[in-house]
Amino acid sequence: MSARIHPSILSADFVNFERDFKTITNCDSYHVDVMDGHFVPNLTFGLPMVKRMQQIAVKPLDVHLMIENVDDWAPRYADLGVASVTFHLEASEQPIALARKLRAAGAKAAIAVKPNTSLDFVLDNLPEWDMVLVMTVEPGFGGQALIEATLEKVAQARKAIDAAGLAVALEVDGGIDEHNIARVAGLGADTFVAGSAVFGAEDRAARIEYLRNLATI
Ligand code: DX5
Ligand code: ZN
Repeated sequence: MSARIHPSILSADFVNFERDFKTITNCDSYHVDVMDGHFVPNLTFGLPMVKRMQQIAVKPLDVHLMIENVDDWAPRYADLGVASVTFHLEASEQPIALARKLRAAGAKAAIAVKPNTSLDFVLDNLPEWDMVLVMTVEPGFGGQALIEATLEKVAQARKAIDAAGLAVALEVDGGIDEHNIARVAGLGADTFVAGSAVFGAEDRAARIEYLRNLATI
């Protein structure tokens, strides 16, 4: 299967989202980073902005919530009709109940772990998630270098997903570029967030195509 490329719009022009969305229409989903200035030190946008994005987007939205009180907030994003909602294990009091609510609202349920968080709970409850996100940088900012030690978890997750025979997607986010994407794909990731690697390219659509080819094995 073809690798999925999800450009992170954290690297887009924040007053020209609609224009920038049009430059990346050959992507598989738009990756939307919601940050609250508490769970992570950075602040982006919230529900009203994502609602508007959902109205104009020609591709599905992959919403990545880096926020506190996520058990209360995540279902409201699912209610907007976005394709998938990713919440952080570290921020949720009741991850399984939350994932079930997201699915009931019609969204794919995805769970993320920061670089220093173990995947044990996530892998012990694999049928509850549609996607697992292994953060390959500390969440909060675009343009950081991939943390090599996180790649062990990518391989660990792939092994568990295959052993369970489940179609859970395996996403990586942070520092993914044309130099490392093939290697990360080889470890088992199938869904790749790329912010600066896509938006920093002169021809963004061509960069998406290039990344997808490199990651498709
Ligand atoms: C970081 C965000 C990422 C980020 C990726 O907290 O979750 O989605 O925008 O950006 P790059 O690809 O530039 O590392
Ligand atoms: Zn993200």
